[in-house]
Amino acid sequence: MAFLKKNYGWIIVSILATLPLIPLLKMGLDGGKENVDMLYHISGEFAIRWMTAVLTCTPIFILFGVNNLFVRQAMGIATAVWSFIHFILFVWIDGFLETFTQFNYIAGFVAVLLLIPLFVTSNRKSMRFLKSNWKKLQSFTYFIIFLSLLHVAILDKTWLIYAIVVGVGFVIRIPVAKKYLINLRKKRK
Ligand code: HEM
Repeated sequence: MAFLKKNYGWIIVSILATLPLIPLLKMGLDGGKENVDMLYHISGEFAIRWMTAVLTCTPIFILFGVNNLFVRQAMGIATAVWSFIHFILFVWIDGFLETFTQFNYIAGFVAVLLLIPLFVTSNRKSMRFLKSNWKKLQSFTYFIIFLSLLHVAILDKTWLIYAIVVGVGFVIRIPVAKKYLINLRKKRK
């Protein structure tokens, strides 16, 4: 019981991140053009949703003082795994060389490449080893979300809602806004 009380956050994230694999596997096994579109849709949507969610962790901490490193790490892993699944599906369906035929695929590809070091170092051991460089590495996230939104916007799929959530998060992070909001939160207590 004590274990669940301490770890329920990242366990819920892991379950939520794993569940969409069930319809994805079913469609992959069924085949067909419609299913191929759905494979791209499900994997791409979950990649961008988790990416947006992980970027809201710092704004949520600033606004409400809630922070959980394990939840944040689980969200980061979900982001990377869904992006990798999305890319692996593309390579499987269209072939690797197809990646370089459109600007939006190249933008997605660079985002996937940048996610690799973040994924590999998203554990406590790497945090201790890299020290302040770990934070610097994490700042890749800003470029990754920009490239991902560019990829989705050029494809003319749903992107604006994610851009708004991420954009509001960036405004909250601006040092002056951050200081003001943290002071406001502390005064309310
Ligand atoms: C090499 C990297 C990537 C390739 C080759 C790729 C390829 C594709 C393809 C072929 C589609 C379907 C386009 C269509 O239906 O017309 C798609 C859609 C999408 N991709 Fe990617 N993608 C890549 C990386 C990413 C990344 C990093 C993200 C976000 C984290 C992402 C998010 C999406 C989203 C949200 C959609 C739209 C899904 C929908 O609503 O149907 N993609 N991508």
